[in-house]
Amino acid sequence: MLKLLFIGDIVGRPGREIVGEVVPRLRRESGVDFVVANAENAAAGAGITGALARSILDSGVDAITLGDHVWDQRGWEVDIAQMDHVCRPANLPAACPGWDHVVVESRGFKLAVFTVLGRQFMNMKAEDPFACADRMIERLKGQADAILVEIHAEATSEKQALGWHLDGRVTAVLGTHTHVPTADACVLPKGTAFMCDVGMSGPYASVLGREVAPVISRFMDGMPRRFEVATGDVRLSAALVGIDPSMARAASIELVTVRR
Ligand SMILES: [Fe+2]
Ligand SMILES: [Fe+2]
Repeated sequence: MLKLLFIGDIVGRPGREIVGEVVPRLRRESGVDFVVANAENAAAGAGITGALARSILDSGVDAITLGDHVWDQRGWEVDIAQMDHVCRPANLPAACPGWDHVVVESRGFKLAVFTVLGRQFMNMKAEDPFACADRMIERLKGQADAILVEIHAEATSEKQALGWHLDGRVTAVLGTHTHVPTADACVLPKGTAFMCDVGMSGPYASVLGREVAPVISRFMDGMPRRFEVATGDVRLSAALVGIDPSMARAASIELVTVRR
């Protein structure tokens, strides 16, 4: 059995620090084969930089994925083009820099990873995530033994629909972006592990990782404010997927929460 740990949106310094502490330990003690992390909020809650991506990879993360915050940091559009183990969402326009997938290898088993952005209540120029996933799966045939699809989206309906659409064709369809872990981890009938959202890795005494007071005020008066990354109740949140390497099917999935 192979083990895949998929870590949800890393938010700011608290998220980076807990990933840096926990990932090496989990790799050592739990025999995790693959670690993939969404790091779209790694830089002060918005985007990522080359230096931060390198430090996350150095801590034992095999591949970094991104979401709608992919272009928030200036210079990242240059850095991303030089990074092998980082991919931007696959359904962004083809002209966007960066790889649209990553292939990682462990014990002779190759896992391909790609992200699609949802289109419901999202403001990115993204093509149909269903058609994009179909096309990517065709393209990746022969290049990998299994595929992890990340659905970075707002609507649970869109995430569930993609899970069912891909059931039996990929090993896992795992959600990110809403930063709140959902209680729906399951293996779908044809062997695809699914979860609407694996939760963020960052401060949970917060609103989606940001300090509470300015967010409440913004909801009440609509005035613009800075939303600093919060600091309290830091957790790493991830899905742990057991992969049967002979079938490339998911055998199990569970939510992993690690507190400081
Ligand atoms: Fe996020
Ligand atoms: Fe997002």
